Amino acid sequence: MARPAIAIALPDDERQHVVDALREADFEPVAVRRPADLEALLASRHDVAVAILDGESDFDESLEYYEQLHVPGRDIPSLMIVSPRTLDRLAGAAGRAGAHDEYFTRPYSPEALRWRIEAMLIRQMTVDDGSGAVIQSGPLSADNWSRRGQMLGIFNAKGGVGKTTIAVNLAAALVAMGRSVLLVDADTVTGHIASSLGLEQVRTLVDSLSDTSEAGPGATPETLEELVAAHSSGLKVLVLSSSPLKTARLVPETVADAIDRARRSFDVIVVDLHPDYDALNRAMFGRADRILVPVTPDVPALRAAVQLRDVADELGFRAKLALVVNRANSGVSMTDMESTVGMAAFASIRSAGMQLVKAANEGRTVIDLFPSEKVSGDFRALAERVVGVPRPREAGRVSLRGLFGRKESVRVG
Ligand SMILES: Nc1ncnc2c1ncn2[C@@H]1O[C@H](COP(=O)(O)OP(=O)(O)OP(=O)(O)O)[C@@H](O)[C@H]1O
Ligand SMILES: [Mg+2]
Repeated sequence: MARPAIAIALPDDERQHVVDALREADFEPVAVRRPADLEALLASRHDVAVAILDGESDFDESLEYYEQLHVPGRDIPSLMIVSPRTLDRLAGAAGRAGAHDEYFTRPYSPEALRWRIEAMLIRQMTVDDGSGAVIQSGPLSADNWSRRGQMLGIFNAKGGVGKTTIAVNLAAALVAMGRSVLLVDADTVTGHIASSLGLEQVRTLVDSLSDTSEAGPGATPETLEELVAAHSSGLKVLVLSSSPLKTARLVPETVADAIDRARRSFDVIVVDLHPDYDALNRAMFGRADRILVPVTPDVPALRAAVQLRDVADELGFRAKLALVVNRANSGVSMTDMESTVGMAAFASIRSAGMQLVKAANEGRTVIDLFPSEKVSGDFRALAERVVGVPRPREAGRVSLRGLFGRKESVRVG
């Protein structure tokens, strides 16, 4: 299997040794001499797994390289080569810029650098919280190292407002538009996505983690790609748990990280959440690019959306919220609902009880079964907005403060 490409932006006298060591390990080293080279490289291919940058000579140039690596839809880790003195300075700075960026100190042997690159690739694919069971998020293949799919949470703490209906049909509409989509049933209490799509006996993440830990140390964990169930429409489905009694195995942050890393394998990840504010949901709010908030035209649903808006204000993810008015054609005016919740409607879905019931009976989506019904047009319009509208500002901000030990941030969204 072809190994990925590694971009190398190092001074001339240093570059060749690194190129040789990486080529020896069957990587494809690609020298870049200026930020425009990296821009052209990343525009033309998707198998660049890591970029090796020089963290010493030209701060502005390093920033330009760094921005190229972290634009919306792309998240390529950098390995920043620095002196021990610089590293000391950085150690005092809070946090790091990207979750996967790393440092390497001069002087170094090209061989040691090569092994660090190998470790970075493995880390990109695995989530290990130290508790034993590991989730591996995908195969170490060479394609699409740079993809960073969009992650959408579907949430309102009020039950029955259409979260699951919207999650499933939005996902189906995105598949029909040619996107690769992972639909995650993260409702570990009352989730029923698999059965509503006619998928029987689906292996859940809990099943996989149990089997791995029973098999003992050294067992190779299943990848998320192996675990997902494929629906006839092309949709891939991941179910976290089939029973609320088994969810103790799911460490919220670890699960959220595993779903987050599946961005590499999918264009869009749609996560259907349980109506509560527990730790898993809070972990997902932090990682999602956007949270769709379905509301129905009734006071409890609108009140729950106002509560979510306040919680989001407090926790700093308000800019991610997008209101989706469900059963919109009920007589209550859209403007009234928007002003009650204090958010503009991002999309609306009309009532279509008959079609929804018929589709569920056949284990299909309305998009599949009734593509020309008006409600399918509503789901398609939602899907188009989701992929066509730039992500909210806050979600696209990458702080460079940690990486360069300076108070600075760049807008990448
Ligand atoms: N636009 C719609 N028109 C008609 N019926 C709808 C519509 N949206 C949802 N429903 C119906 O409302 C019920 C609840 O929907 P759904 O299960 O999607 O809500 P939910 O928010 O996921 O609920 P829970 O909080 O229990 O997970 C279902 O029977 C569904 O078919
Ligand atoms: Mg639901």
